[in-house]
Amino acid sequence: MFIGLDLGTSSLKAILINEAQAIVAEESVPLTVARPHDGWSEQDPESWCDAARAALKGLTKKADCSAVQGIGLSGHMHGATLLGSDDTPLRPCMLWNDTRSHAEAAEMDAVPRFRQITGNIVFPGFTAPKVEWVRRHESDTFEKTRKILIPKDYLRLFLTGEHVSEMSDAAGTSWLDTAARDWSDDLLATCHLSRDHMPRLVEGNAPSGQLRASLAQELGLPRCTVAGGAGDNAAAAIGAGVVAPGTAFLSLGTSGVLFAANASYHPDAASAVHTFCHAVPDTWHQMGVILAATDALEWLARLTGQSAAALTADLGPVQAPMRTLFLPYLGGERTPHNDARMRGQFLHLDHATDAREAARAVLQGVSFAFADCRDALVHTGTTIGQALVLGGGSRSRHWVEMLASTLGIPLNVPQAGDFGAALGAARLGMMASTGAGPEIATSPPLAATIDPDPRFTEAMAEGHAHYRHAYQLLKDF
Ligand code: XUL
Repeated sequence: MFIGLDLGTSSLKAILINEAQAIVAEESVPLTVARPHDGWSEQDPESWCDAARAALKGLTKKADCSAVQGIGLSGHMHGATLLGSDDTPLRPCMLWNDTRSHAEAAEMDAVPRFRQITGNIVFPGFTAPKVEWVRRHESDTFEKTRKILIPKDYLRLFLTGEHVSEMSDAAGTSWLDTAARDWSDDLLATCHLSRDHMPRLVEGNAPSGQLRASLAQELGLPRCTVAGGAGDNAAAAIGAGVVAPGTAFLSLGTSGVLFAANASYHPDAASAVHTFCHAVPDTWHQMGVILAATDALEWLARLTGQSAAALTADLGPVQAPMRTLFLPYLGGERTPHNDARMRGQFLHLDHATDAREAARAVLQGVSFAFADCRDALVHTGTTIGQALVLGGGSRSRHWVEMLASTLGIPLNVPQAGDFGAALGAARLGMMASTGAGPEIATSPPLAATIDPDPRFTEAMAEGHAHYRHAYQLLKDF
């Protein structure tokens, strides 16, 4: 048996799978995000360990875990967890959607070596500019920092006592030589750091350590192997069977991701597409990332006092495109704009605009943002013919139909789409503990394939052009 732990932004999920990869038990523990200032987004690293402890205890209550051989980890990427000499976090972790370090990111990005070595723009959400922000604004903390870990790697430290990361998450730090799959001493030195501040690197499907004896005893688990694991997107890809070149998924989670697997490394940083290592050796992936997908709907839910489920329950047929326009840049945007300062917009409101209309506009705005990601990927030479659709937002049939018509590609809805990253993590745990290869990462059985509606595809393309125009008009406003 194998366990997958997925440290999400709003909850930590744990699943237990058997040798046939059937889900035997699952558990979820909520997490909170603090936003003390505009653009800030933080979590207490200890809350991840408490959640993991509770989730693992929950699993052991629900099922016999005595045959667990491997645990795999997945987590939200890019966070900066700064540890002192006793491995205690020195401050709250600055998360992937924390954009306070946009000035530091822009300065680093202007140094050509960053794009050349990492294959990516230095985005404000990435780890290196956050640490530079700490160096400038909280110099005491920077001086005391001995190790810097990405969130799921702090969870690994709790589980195994080891400082280890793996290639897919490390690629989102701005310190990795993404082609060589190794830390760049040059970039670390530019950031006043050295390899000593970094964890050891393994591949995602390789062992990274063993569950600590005392913790194993406390939780009622065997002393099993903990795999390298992966950043949440690469883990979701392993869970969804997106490993072979040409396969793709679209994730409607808190953030939105259009992800394509690649056999080789061909970055195009200027497109604002992310080019990262995949979770198995010698493979890479590319993705367009938007910062608010279901997060935009959750914002509207808070504003209207209705739940996201209620807002999307009865939207009727897709009407393409609507005049009411929503730009989902509530916390800035990554692909394609790399614009941390832009904020969300509602346009063309009139007397008849109600919560239902606003909800449709939000789904449409996020769909147009995905169309921007598709175009950015095409610019790098990566064309997506069809994609699996994953994440909480994929429960809205209306949204998936709107996306299929906006992107002009069929979207495949899996029968059980919720545990992409946790399942991927469990599969990596299985690979690391049994020696199984990437072929165990099969694609899920489908519940439906949603084709683009030819009545709308042209009109949606026009709507997308208006959306792009609106951004150009408003970006400096
Ligand atoms: C990817 C990214 C997000 C986070 C949170 O670059 O920032 O997808 O991993 O899920």
